[in-house]
Amino acid sequence: NELANLMDVPVTQVISTCMSLGMFVSINQRLDAETLTIVADEFGYQVEFIKPEDEQVAELEEPDKEENLVPRAPIVTVMGHVDHGKTSLLDYIRKANVTKGEAGGITQHIGAYLVTLDDGRKITFLDTPGHEAFTAMRARGAKVTDIVIIVIAADDAVMPQTIEAINHAQAAGSPIVFAFTKIDKPGANSDRIREQLANMNILVEEWGGKYQTQEISAKTGENVELLLEKVLLEAELLDLKADPKKRGVGSVIESALDKGRGIVTTVLVQGGTLRVGDPILAGPYSGKVKALINERGERVKEAGPSVPVQILGMSGAPTAGDKLYVMESESEARQVANKRLQLQREQGMRATKHITLDEIGRRL
Ligand code: GTP
Ligand code: MG
Repeated sequence: NELANLMDVPVTQVISTCMSLGMFVSINQRLDAETLTIVADEFGYQVEFIKPEDEQVAELEEPDKEENLVPRAPIVTVMGHVDHGKTSLLDYIRKANVTKGEAGGITQHIGAYLVTLDDGRKITFLDTPGHEAFTAMRARGAKVTDIVIIVIAADDAVMPQTIEAINHAQAAGSPIVFAFTKIDKPGANSDRIREQLANMNILVEEWGGKYQTQEISAKTGENVELLLEKVLLEAELLDLKADPKKRGVGSVIESALDKGRGIVTTVLVQGGTLRVGDPILAGPYSGKVKALINERGERVKEAGPSVPVQILGMSGAPTAGDKLYVMESESEARQVANKRLQLQREQGMRATKHITLDEIGRRL
């Protein structure tokens, strides 16, 4: 009936078309995607499928106002092969840039953190555990990273996961800066790496290509500043801006149940400003921001664009990559969340229906 209305044809025609395809359907029957496509085609229509999530994005996210746009910090992900030195690099950067005010504060792992350089410039680092998280987020349509640093140990070689990381970054359209690390080690040879990259059609700048590279040591800290300069240069080209005045919107980095605190959700704010007291929605869960906590474990009142923050107050743990929206009201947030939850249940039911005993019997 709905399909007939959309195409503006009598419902009986849709039913008889289905019959001609060997399907006996009732007026209220739901058609699967494939059937919909075939039937619509019979009437000269093309079906375009949109995810319910996409449909809502348009409604949920407030558009940026041109006059409110201000520069925002680049969001940078570090990727690379196992043991090539990703964590060491991030640790060094974090330690080297701890300002006096922060000294003594307990740094807690929140999957993302904001680094402020001496001159006040800021970079947000995403500490995603491996490529899986990155891929999962990308598969869910979350474009979180602006720039990717790919770490390659100069005493080793371009490895399978290095190639994977390059492929991910390229598929996401993120600029890459290569860090040839562990140059303090005997046997480090960056030219060997440059050559291996060239063999993959990745030509580095010093060889006339477009990719910036930097030799570094995360152990001694040598050249790490230069690496950050190159990242910031890449960021400048991207001219990253956001509207901090609109309702907050961001992406979930991770979320889990914490014993004393309830659901703790790490979010990277991408637009607008997230504030304590805001009604929020993420995936099939809603809530009200009870507290915001920064990467140093301090309570903050608000978080603007490119700022990672932990939220207390969600009704459940959303999935990494889910979009988080500040909503007009708690009841509106709850309504959308419930609708999504119901949709998930329905889909779950449909999936399980597929494997009834009866089915198995028939297959046997
Ligand atoms: P995974 O998270 O397991 O994929 O590894 P990772 O890429 O985070 O590597 P990690 O930072 O844990 O470093 C692996 C080993 O290399 C550690 O023993 C580090 O101490 C060492 N290492 C990392 N960077 C350097 C460096 O610049 N110089 C030297 N000499 N050793 C380094
Ligand atoms: Mg690591």
